[in-house]
Amino acid sequence: MAGSATLAAGAKVFSTNCSSCHQAQGTGQPGVFPPLAKNPTVNGNATRLIHIVKYGLSGSVAVLGTTYNGLMPAWHSTLSDADIAAVLSYVRSSWGNKAGPIDASQVAAVKQ
Ligand code: HEC
Repeated sequence: MAGSATLAAGAKVFSTNCSSCHQAQGTGQPGVFPPLAKNPTVNGNATRLIHIVKYGLSGSVAVLGTTYNGLMPAWHSTLSDADIAAVLSYVRSSWGNKAGPIDASQVAAVKQ
């Protein structure tokens, strides 16, 4: 588990930067914004997840049986490595997700 201060910081980063699309409870919007709740990518490999948030994602992806073909902006110029670590630790431990925390050094290590 990440510390409660990290999770509180992550919740704030999420509500400011992510919830407009992915929604406050991580449910997304079917066919438009993928859910982050119970999402295998969110709960899976940390490097791949960090890469998506740091450098963005576009093109077709299937998430929990629904296809998305949208565009998520890159966050590396808006958010610090510590912010990305905090928001991912928050997302990975919210809404039924049960994956381990991510720290800033892991975020720093993922290159484009
Ligand atoms: C402007 C809307 C928007 C915002 C804001 C946004 N996202 Fe996304 N996100 C998307 C879209 C659209 C996709 C799917 C992209 C595609 O179809 O290729 C996505 C994909 C993702 C994925 C990959 C899901 C998967 O299963 O492949 C993750 C993880 C993610 N976003 C996390 C975040 C986080 C964390 C934030 C805040 C820092 C954030 N997003 C902010 C629109 C957004």
